[in-house]
Amino acid sequence: MKRMGWLTSGLAAMVLTAALAGCGAGAGGNNTAATGNNTTAGAAEPTLIMATSADYKPYEFHDTSGGQDKIVGFDIDVANAIAQKLHFKFTIEDMDFDSLIGALQAHRADFVIAGMTPTPEREKSVDFSEIYYQATNVVLTRKGFTVTSLNDLKGKKVAAQLGSVQEDAAKSIPGVQLESLTTIPNVVQEVVTGRVDAAIIEDTVATGYVKNNPNLQINRIPGIKSNGSAIAFPKGSPWVSKFNAAIDEMKKDGELQKLAEKWFSQ
Ligand code: ARG
Repeated sequence: MKRMGWLTSGLAAMVLTAALAGCGAGAGGNNTAATGNNTTAGAAEPTLIMATSADYKPYEFHDTSGGQDKIVGFDIDVANAIAQKLHFKFTIEDMDFDSLIGALQAHRADFVIAGMTPTPEREKSVDFSEIYYQATNVVLTRKGFTVTSLNDLKGKKVAAQLGSVQEDAAKSIPGVQLESLTTIPNVVQEVVTGRVDAAIIEDTVATGYVKNNPNLQINRIPGIKSNGSAIAFPKGSPWVSKFNAAIDEMKKDGELQKLAEKWFSQ
């Protein structure tokens, strides 16, 4: 599992290495924000720890185009906007998607933004903000294999991300040969190379892969209901209501819509 520490303060992003390297960052140094009540005006801004799984373009992904490895995306912009409103700074901990809930439970992170869908199962372990974006599961296949219902995947080899709601969806297919992988690029790669027949992923993410690979096709399943994305927190976190107020503001003044257009309409 890769772990990286980043310090983002509005525009600038600086790599913060030793302080976060593997050592229970939540307890370290200035990162005392797990208490969440450190927002007195005039006092130094608290630094929260945000965890994500930066394998999810355009929500969060590694951008190395500037010769520097930066985590960017819709979720990162949303987090930056909220941080500005609530006057905190945050560092980014990049980890596998299936480690995120555990990181919150262990208070190694103050919040998770990772295109994560609230489910009753997850709500037993963490608290969620309101929904800030919607996506829908689709079936990704190679050109020529058309799927119109999950039942078409009966007995087939299907890939999905470990710990995701798409993995749950795949598990519900009778006789499926499920291949669970830690990252989305690996999931897509299995389809590309033909090691699996299909993958279940969200349309918002599948679109980018299909655009870059004419041998792939997106299959929409009629009647399937959409998955919301929400921000997750340790149970009882005082930040939930504050984040909700910030999200509400961003919904009302159009900022959320603007960020969505920036990342999802290209
Ligand atoms: N929305 C799905 C879920 O919550 C997938 C999210 C995957 N996110 C990621 N950063 N890989 O299970």
